[in-house]
Formats: sequence, structure tokens, C-alpha cells
Amino acid sequence: METIVVRGGAPLRGDIVVSGAKNAALPLLFATLLTEDECRLSRVPRLVDIHTTLRLLRDLGVEYDWVGDQEVALSASGVQNLEASYDLVKTMRASFLTLGPLLARFGRARVSTPGGCAIGARPVNIHLDGMQRLGATIHLYQGYVEAEAKRLRGAHLPLEFPSVGATENLLMAATLAEGETIIDNAAREPEIVDLALLLNAMGAHIRGAGTSTITIEGVASLHGAEHVVIPDRVEAGTFLAAGAITSGDVFVHGARADHLDAFLAAFADAGIQFAIHEDGIRVIGNSRPRGIPLTTLPYPGFPTDLQAQMMALLALGQGQSIITETIFENRFMHAQELVRLGADIQVHGNTATINGVAYLSGAQVMATDLRASVSLLLAGLAAQGETEVARVYHLDRGYERIEEKLSRIGADIHRAKAD
Ligand code: EPZ
Repeated sequence: METIVVRGGAPLRGDIVVSGAKNAALPLLFATLLTEDECRLSRVPRLVDIHTTLRLLRDLGVEYDWVGDQEVALSASGVQNLEASYDLVKTMRASFLTLGPLLARFGRARVSTPGGCAIGARPVNIHLDGMQRLGATIHLYQGYVEAEAKRLRGAHLPLEFPSVGATENLLMAATLAEGETIIDNAAREPEIVDLALLLNAMGAHIRGAGTSTITIEGVASLHGAEHVVIPDRVEAGTFLAAGAITSGDVFVHGARADHLDAFLAAFADAGIQFAIHEDGIRVIGNSRPRGIPLTTLPYPGFPTDLQAQMMALLALGQGQSIITETIFENRFMHAQELVRLGADIQVHGNTATINGVAYLSGAQVMATDLRASVSLLLAGLAAQGETEVARVYHLDRGYERIEEKLSRIGADIHRAKAD
């Protein structure tokens, strides 16, 4: 098992480049199942989850090649296998996004239900309700969803919650349905807009992506297209937090302020200085941030994927902060690990009360999920002494060579083998 060891105290200074967005690249890769033509995606991050997705796509019969450092060409002309197996879906729940494309193009799919994960039960009822409204028959058998539909028919799809994954699955399915589909209470994340951009480039007729109401006019088939993945707003926010927590001066190249409104508003509330530029955002670390109230919400509200990073920052804040997590039922596991580093945090249900402390002290801690792992790194960057984060495989799912990127701007950080 690998660990990451970080020695705190060094202010980070310099430029750091944001990779393509993991949570955009995953649905974009699954969207290539909708056509027999070749698609080319660039700015695809080299992450564990991306490799898992490519393995799953190859399992289904998709051929792909890395044609550049971050560009991949895929062809789904040879898809024969319509089953996404449990062993792949359990390692990455986004594999459930094969359901919509396979059902829409082939009329059949057998996809394992993802099961829960560390941060919550994460059911897929909203996905399945939508597919049934589009005319699919759905059977749940031996942990698999068995779906069939001669041809999907456009329908009105009111989502009970603006689920990102359900919006993506249903959006992809509706592109080849007969007639018009309207998704109400749709998720509004930038990753939804990016997916709609690719689908429209493939010949789909989608309007309203990024708003709560998306209208899709079904077409008979889709053709190939090329697309550049948007920058990763969560990675960008993570690097901005790294610059702030170390009182450094970091330019996050590729960070898009229009994808980070709520995050930057929280930064401003906490008194953290930053400057928005054409090609990125500069954070000028300063004294300890002010304590603030924070509630995670569906986009454009404060993103749950940046909650753990903000908790690390506010652990050193002046005064008290209250964080309320409304998206997932168990996304405070990093709190107890931060307490091991000297933070003063109490968790009651979906609320965490953080009383800022003057300093943190390095210790051995354990990552529990992707974003929790990076919040422990951030705290380690500011803590006195050495912090060793175990189970960093969580980290590699969502961050591309993060210790290399951080050490290039002054972090004392390296990967080690745990004995
Ligand atoms: C996506 O997950 C992201 N993953 C998550 O990022 C992100 O935290 C989440 O959206 C919320 O923004 C990818 O894009 C690959 P949801 P997803 O469906 O689609 C409930 C990361 O760290 N729900 O919007 O699974 C669900 O239980 C990951 O990169 C249902 O009840 O999120 C959760 O409480 C973590 N029924 C809430 O909605 C459903 O059918 C939000 O889930 C679907 C969801």
C-alpha cells in the first residue's frame, strides 16, 4: 500500500496547471457508445477512474487508442457485449452511465447496480424511474439492472432530485429516443453542459443544458465528433485551497471562475485574497481565514466535492465555522482524521462545527474517500512536522500526479511504500 508523506510549513509559490475534469471525461467517454463512428476526446486526465472506464468500454467491445498525451480516439462500431459487470461497476459507480447509451443504441443493457460507497447509499432510483418513463422495461435480478426497449420514446422526466448521474444517463438515452424529452429539475453542473456540447456535436438536438429544464429532440442516429474536456473545477478549487492554507502565492492555470462562483464567494467571505485572470485564478495566501457558515448544494451552490478541502482550510481559521453537508449522508469522515492533526471539529448529523486553531501538528492519517484524502494532504501542507496519509489509492482516482504538481511549487511531499 502506498502512502504520501508531506512535511508542512512551506508556502506554495508558482504556477500549477489544472487537468481535464474527471467528472466530465467519464460521461463523455460513455457517450461514445452512442455512435459507430470514431470520437476523439482531448484533455483527458490520466486517472485511475479513466483507465477503469476505458477497460470497461473495451470489455463492451469499444476500441480505443491514446493518440496523444491526453487525447484518446474511440470507436464503438464493434460493441457486442451489452453487460457492465459487477466487478467493474463496484470499483467505479460512474460505470452505471453505460445504461443510457447501451439501451438507446442497442435496445438492451445488463448493468450491475453500483451499491453504496463510503460517502453514502447512493441509490439509482432516479435513473431507473426516468428510463421507465422513456419506455424501457426494467428488471432487477441478482444485483443487475436488466433493461429492454424496442425504441425509447420521448417523455416528460421530472427528477425528484437534480442528480448529476441521472441527468447524464437520461440525457444520453433521450438523444436517440423517438420524439421530444423534457428533463425537469435537471442537474446544472458544468459537466452536464460539456456532455451536451459533445452530444450536439454528434448530431443530437439538446437545448437548455446548464439550466433546470433540458429539452431533447430525439434523432435516428449520432455520428462521430471531437471534443476538448473542460478543466477540472474541483482540482482547481483544491489547488486554490492549497495556496491559501500555506499562505502562499499560487496561480492556478486553467481555473475557470465561471465554474467556481460559490467556491470563490466562500473564499471572499473567509477573507482569502484571490485575483481572476483570463487564463486562471491567482490566490494570495494571507493570515488565517475568517470562520464562515457553509452549506453544500446542487450546482450552482457550494460543491460537495470541495467541502472537505474547505474544512481543512477552516480548521486553521479564526473563529468558528459551521459546515452543513446536504448532498451526501456520510461525507464528514475526514473530520476525525483532521482532529488527529489537532483540529477542533465536532460532527452532529450532517453538520460539522469547526473551531479554528492556531496550528496543526503532523500525524499518521488515513484517507477514506477521494476528496477526504486530498483534504488531509492540504492540512499536512500547513501542519508542523510530518504527515503520512495512508490509502492514497483513493487520491489517484481523481488527481493526476498530485504530489508532482505540488512539489513543483514548493511542497515537501513524496510518495512512499507503507511497510
Ligand atoms: C456525481 O456523482 C459526481 N461523480 C460526484 O463526485 C459528486 O459528488 C456528485 O455528482 C454530486 O455533485 C461523477 O460525476 C462521476 P448525484 P453522482 O446522483 O452522479 C442521491 C467525486 O468526488 N441520488 O448527483 O453519483 C445520491 O444518493 C464524486 O468526484 C438518489 O437518491 O451524484 C446523493 O445523495 C463523489 N437517487 C445525491 O442524490 C439517484 O438515483 C447526489 O447524487 C441518484 C442520486
